[in-house]
Amino acid sequence: MAQLITSPKQRIQIAPHLTLTSDLFEIAAAGVDLHTPELGSLRWEAFISRQWTLVPDELTGEPYKAELRLSKFSGVNYWLAPDRRGGEQPKPHNHPWDFHSATLAGLLVEDRVDLVDGELVHTPGVEHPAGDVNRVGRETFHEVVDLEPHTMTLMMYGPGMNHWGYLDADGNYTQAVAPKGFLARLRELNPHQR
Ligand SMILES: [Fe+2]
Repeated sequence: MAQLITSPKQRIQIAPHLTLTSDLFEIAAAGVDLHTPELGSLRWEAFISRQWTLVPDELTGEPYKAELRLSKFSGVNYWLAPDRRGGEQPKPHNHPWDFHSATLAGLLVEDRVDLVDGELVHTPGVEHPAGDVNRVGRETFHEVVDLEPHTMTLMMYGPGMNHWGYLDADGNYTQAVAPKGFLARLRELNPHQR
């Protein structure tokens, strides 16, 4: 008699570069209950929705993460690759808002540059394992330089009040400009949103 194959594990392909599982959903739902209970419980249908956005690496065009917005000020990031805007060269960026990033699964490794008493303080290799909550102020510069497969974070954003930008080796700031073709690549990576 043929054996019936049953599995409690569900896998759903959202897009060519994004496959989600019921295991990831359970971790995300527990993270929402813990960190953003005001949103109510995360539903499976919301987790596997077409709202996920795969974000291209500005240099290679390959997706480095997928984002699912949960509200104006929160979202889930599923990480596919580090976020190194300068390739092999350091190119730390800031964000327009303060945010907290709770690592729900996996591990992120961050190089960061904080302004402390008017001095830039470089701290390479800061590890953010599951359970960690990382505060990144809008005055902080950072890069995600390494990660474990299936790393997922819950992002909690403050209001936007600044620019995206980069810090060079001399400490000079340059406002970020989306590279040519970025929006076209974004559309290519997200056929499920059309
Ligand atoms: Fe960042």
